[in-house]
Amino acid sequence: MSLPKVLCFHLILMLSAFTGAANGYYNSRWAKCIFSSSDLSDMVFVDNYIFNKDVYIQFNSTVGEYVGYTAHGVYNADLWNKNPSQLQQERAEVDRYCKPNAEIYYSAILNKAVPPKVKLSSGTQAGGRHPAVLMCSAYDFYPKRIKVSWMRDGKVVTSDVTSTEELADGDWYYQIHSHLEYTPKSGEKISCAVDHAGLTKPIIIDWDPSLPESERNKIAIGASGLVLGIIIAAAGLIYYKKKSSGRILVPT
Ligand SMILES: *[C@@H]1O[C@H](CO)[C@@H](O)[C@H](O)[C@H]1NC(C)=O
Repeated sequence: MSLPKVLCFHLILMLSAFTGAANGYYNSRWAKCIFSSSDLSDMVFVDNYIFNKDVYIQFNSTVGEYVGYTAHGVYNADLWNKNPSQLQQERAEVDRYCKPNAEIYYSAILNKAVPPKVKLSSGTQAGGRHPAVLMCSAYDFYPKRIKVSWMRDGKVVTSDVTSTEELADGDWYYQIHSHLEYTPKSGEKISCAVDHAGLTKPIIIDWDPSLPESERNKIAIGASGLVLGIIIAAAGLIYYKKKSSGRILVPT
């Protein structure tokens, strides 16, 4: 599976509100673990100290020490950076907090990917630039991240493609619908490709422009009726001709 997983989880360590005005002031501290590789090698720990919406001190494990962003922040960051045990504790958070929790997330959620069910159908057209539209739908997949793409004779098509968002079904599963507007050409091959974390390789469905079975049945029934009608009409005509010609042949 090729899609990268960009993840981040938060720990809100403290959220205190002390009201001096009607709306209050909010001092908060958010710790984030940010990573995108499943071996957790790119894990970054970021610890933010925030007053209202402004970060005034940040510890970023890539930087390795506190950085202040206001006069008060700079003053305190400086003090904290001079405290080896406090700094040591922050630097250890990647291994103590982030990685063990990320492993739990992987085993409990991320590795439980459910691949999509994919359906390709022709849709109805609401006055677009092209006479035909195809709809590629992916259902019941988890997690949300998915890639739906179109190919025309093996080449990726990006123009005249519209897609819904990944729509939450409300039961952890998602669905998505991608539309391709096109002008049919004979002999061309249109395909929809879906890639997802639950798949080892993308699902590719080729559009079969022949009519669906129910339509074929209707046409077959109609055609049989027509043939039957022609036979009966022909038989009637022959019968009538024979009778009338028999009469005409007898001169008076
Ligand atoms: C952490 O620091 C690195 C290196 O300066 C930077 O690339 C990265 O964007 C920082 N992360 C955050 C969340 O600020």
